[in-house]
Amino acid sequence: MNANLLIPTPEPRIARFETLAYGMFIHWGLYSQLGRGEWVQHLEHIPVSEYAKLKDTFTAADFDARAIARLARESGMKYITLTTRHHDGFSLYDTRGLNDFDAPHSPAGRDLIAEFVDGCRAEGIVPFFYHTTLDWRWDSANCSDEKFNEYLDYLNDSVEVLCANYGEIGGLWFDGNWSRAGADWKEDRMYATIRRHQPEAMIINNTGLDARGALGNPELDSTTFEQGLPKQPNRSGWPKYVSVEMCQTMNSHWGIGVNDFNYLAPGSIIQNLAACRKAGANYLLNVGPTAGGAIPAYETAALRRAGDWVRLLGDAIYEAKPTEIQCQGRDFALRCGEKLFYFVHDLALVGDANVTLGGNDAGPRTLGNLNAPIKSVRWLDNDENLAWTQNVEAGIAAVRCSGYPYGVNLVVRVAEVELG
Ligand code: GLC
Repeated sequence: MNANLLIPTPEPRIARFETLAYGMFIHWGLYSQLGRGEWVQHLEHIPVSEYAKLKDTFTAADFDARAIARLARESGMKYITLTTRHHDGFSLYDTRGLNDFDAPHSPAGRDLIAEFVDGCRAEGIVPFFYHTTLDWRWDSANCSDEKFNEYLDYLNDSVEVLCANYGEIGGLWFDGNWSRAGADWKEDRMYATIRRHQPEAMIINNTGLDARGALGNPELDSTTFEQGLPKQPNRSGWPKYVSVEMCQTMNSHWGIGVNDFNYLAPGSIIQNLAACRKAGANYLLNVGPTAGGAIPAYETAALRRAGDWVRLLGDAIYEAKPTEIQCQGRDFALRCGEKLFYFVHDLALVGDANVTLGGNDAGPRTLGNLNAPIKSVRWLDNDENLAWTQNVEAGIAAVRCSGYPYGVNLVVRVAEVELG
């Protein structure tokens, strides 16, 4: 505990989670065969018995966990959060007798979560388990309290199966407590189950679209910002340091939507990742695999392209932390030891008036609340040194940010500022 500010120090697992920075969210299940998103059963009122037939055609023929983990790694991501069970109640893992609505009892005939953790570990990716708490097979949102309590026993047993059989995992990511607001979800019991088997696992529980950034049960290690840019919380006086994560769809759906064309481009992914890090938050970007379990071509390409940008930045994305330094517009500075990483947006393309619009370079940009003397400033991508002026006493500096030479547009350009 830092006595001056009363900002709690993060526990090691939470500090480690923050350095994972960028992760892949995967929504994959029976619904992927229909291609209309993961809520299709509920939204189209498909009866439980009818929907259950999708199990008979679930082959996982194209699911290559190692290849997915490699894609994540090569795209600059450090973790993957996979739907081990979504609201339809189908488990990608072997429920070990809890029911037979799981991948081993489908034509896939495999424990896909065992494959997932193995694939992640082989590529140095940390596996996280998404697990629903809302279950349409149990009608968990509307059933009687008695049935709900029976369901909670089943849910707790399910979570125990996941915690006890797959080695050390990065964490559990729950979703659905918003579906039965005010109910006693027996969270303490479930989190104790997790801590018993996985003391170092992060415990996250999605607060949903209406309560982004809300704190919950004291065992929870991160807040969630579903589909919204996170803000850096004021942690003064918090009983424990809780991290922040923003999860987002790459188009408008979590599970694959074959007629959804509303994709993020790499430029937007870069800006969103930057905006998350500005707030010290992790960015969990979703992909919806095909029926067979392959990551579709557009998602693969977009992730790889954004990954090329992440690579230009070295450790800046993972290690550097938010600062109080004031920057212009959307610009911001992160700090890592004696270095600042200065994230500059909206730079002009310089060149020739016949080929670029707004051909002047961007000129000086000011930084405030910066009291340490600057030793050097250079762009990370091309090592170009940038001129600066500074009034250390006033805490003000100005850096002459050159624009992009024709042939380059990084969307967000990052300078390393060495402090003396
Ligand atoms: C929502 C949806 C769900 C999705 C989740 C991801 O709560 O119910 O389908 O898994 O958000 O954040």
